This record gives sequence, structure tokens and C-alpha cells, in this order.
Amino acid sequence: MVSLTADLSPLRPDRNLAMELVRATEAAAIRAVPFIGRGAKEAADGAAVDAMRAFLGTVDFRGRVVIGEGEKDNAPMLFNGEEVGTGVGPECDIAVDPIDGTSLTAAGRQNALSVLAVSDRGSMLDASSVFYMDKLVTGPAGVGVVDIRLPIGENIRRLAKALDKPVEEMVVSVLHRPRHEQLIQEIRDAGAGTRLMSDGDVAGGINAARHNARTDMCVGIGGSPEGIVTACAIKALGGHIQGILWPRDDEERQRGIDAGLKMDTVYEADDLVKGNNTIFVATGVTDGQLVRGVRREGRYLYTESIVLRSASGTLRRITSDHLVSKWL
Ligand code: FBP
Repeated sequence: MVSLTADLSPLRPDRNLAMELVRATEAAAIRAVPFIGRGAKEAADGAAVDAMRAFLGTVDFRGRVVIGEGEKDNAPMLFNGEEVGTGVGPECDIAVDPIDGTSLTAAGRQNALSVLAVSDRGSMLDASSVFYMDKLVTGPAGVGVVDIRLPIGENIRRLAKALDKPVEEMVVSVLHRPRHEQLIQEIRDAGAGTRLMSDGDVAGGINAARHNARTDMCVGIGGSPEGIVTACAIKALGGHIQGILWPRDDEERQRGIDAGLKMDTVYEADDLVKGNNTIFVATGVTDGQLVRGVRREGRYLYTESIVLRSASGTLRRITSDHLVSKWL
């Protein structure tokens, strides 16, 4: 007999799952440590992928990888369509980026993160057939105020007004790439400052959306997978995200169309990931504005992570002390 108080709704990703998943990004970040500053980005990524996959295998959920390790990282595991988890528990979509910032890690530079995001099954856009996406991310003040179709100068002026601060105090982050030369110029011409990122636009997007952020907006063309992962975080922060796929050539454009993707169309937050049940987890690999990287002192390794849940709108910061002897 079924109890009258029993919850008969299908299992969905919940707060317990969020706390379990952080073990997987911690493990990936720790395993990347021996490779920081060693010039071997694929080896760093491989170690992080192995660790993340092993830990995901111990978590009670039925995850299907929608955003996996793709073409760029040449990784044979955590591929799109792979099933992860123990096979018991909520059915979810999962996006993984065991290291966002493999080049940063290899160079020993700041802002590399280990990242994953989870949402209800069937809710994440599989944008993997088109490598790049043009993105616009802001905090809550940008909702209904900025629009990726508008010139950047106009968006800066609108957001400055909504934030009640002078345009001269606005800071816009953008990946430092030749393709962004004109964009960078237009930001400066509008009177705002730029924060040029050498890599890692997931952290860039989240930093722009946080309530106590030092940047106001993150714009430009970065990875499409990173766009989906960022959308999961932005939903929890109540911010604004839009994306337009940016195929590199006609062949890629056609591949995207064949996969059911829309070109020249603005993907709003709800198109990137549907609904309001997203979990985003990240652990610092190297130090950054969002979280500190893994530190080793004596017998301990220290990690710092954030866990964001859109259902509750919380940002949790989790620090953990790990015995070196168990890891390295
Ligand atoms: P990887 O860690 O996979 O190398 O990605 C780093 C990154 O900077 C992303 O954050 C960003 O979305 C993408 O690469 C930009 O691509 P590109 O380096 O080709 O401009």
C-alpha cells in the first residue's frame, strides 16, 4: 500500500546530489595538480577526466552526458551520450568540463576550473556540433535590459543605467582573441574598460553575474559547451545569458542544422537549459577570482569549490582538506 504522504513525482536532481557531485570536481582538480605549469595540457586534462569519471561512477544518479569532452580535448571518455553514475536515482542530463582552462593549467596561469553541471533529463541543449557560440552574460540587472542583437556600446549604456553607475566604471570581460579585436575597440570606444581573459569564459561569465562581481558583463565568442555549462550557473544566480551559434564554415553550419540546431537565432537561457532545476559545481584548479586553486601544504591538499542550485538560488562555497597520502 502506498502512503498518502509519499512523493510520487519522478526523482529529480536535488540538493543531496549537488553535494555529492562536488567530490567529482574536487577529484579532477586534485589530479590535475601534478600537471600545473608543466606544459602538458592533454596530460592534465586526461588525469582530470579519469578522476571525474571515476567519482561520478560512485554517485547515485542516472546521468547522460550531453556536453562531454569533445573534439578539442581529444578525450576518449566522458563522451556525449555516455551514461554515468551508479544507475540508481534521478535521471539527469550532465555537462562536464573536467578542466576549463587546460592551457591555463599547463602554463600555470590563473582561473582554471574543474566544472560540471546537471539538470533534468532532456533539458540541456546539445550544441556540440557547432564549436563556438557568441555569448552575452550579465547579472540580474541585465534581465530585460541588454540584448545580444544590440551594439555592445548600447548594451553597456543600458546596463550602466540599470546598475546606476557611470559608463566609465563599467568593466566588460572578453576572451583575448584576434576575432574580438573590433569588439574590444567598441567596448573601449563606449567608455568602458575591458578585462581580457586568456582563457576560461565559464569563470568569466559567472564572475560577471555574481552580485559582488568586479566585472559587469562577459561577452564574445567562446565554446558552445561552455555556454551551456554557464547557463546552468546563471539560472541559479538569476542573471542573464544569451547565445548565438557561431559556425566556423559552411560545413560546420550544415552539421549544426542537420543536428537540429538553429543558426542566426538567439538562444535564451531557457533554450540553453530548460526549466529551473540546474546544479552547477566547480572546483578551482589554479587560483582565480571565483575560487582558489588547489593548495598543497604539508600533509594536506586544500580545495575550494562552489555549488549553485537554481531551485534554491544558493551559492555554497565548500572548502575541503584532503590528506595528500590518499591522493598523490
Ligand atoms: P579548454 O580548457 O577546453 O581549452 O577551453 C578553454 C576555453 O578558453 C574556454 O573557456 C572557451 O570557451 C574556449 O576555450 C575558447 O576557445 P578558443 O581557445 O578556441 O578561443
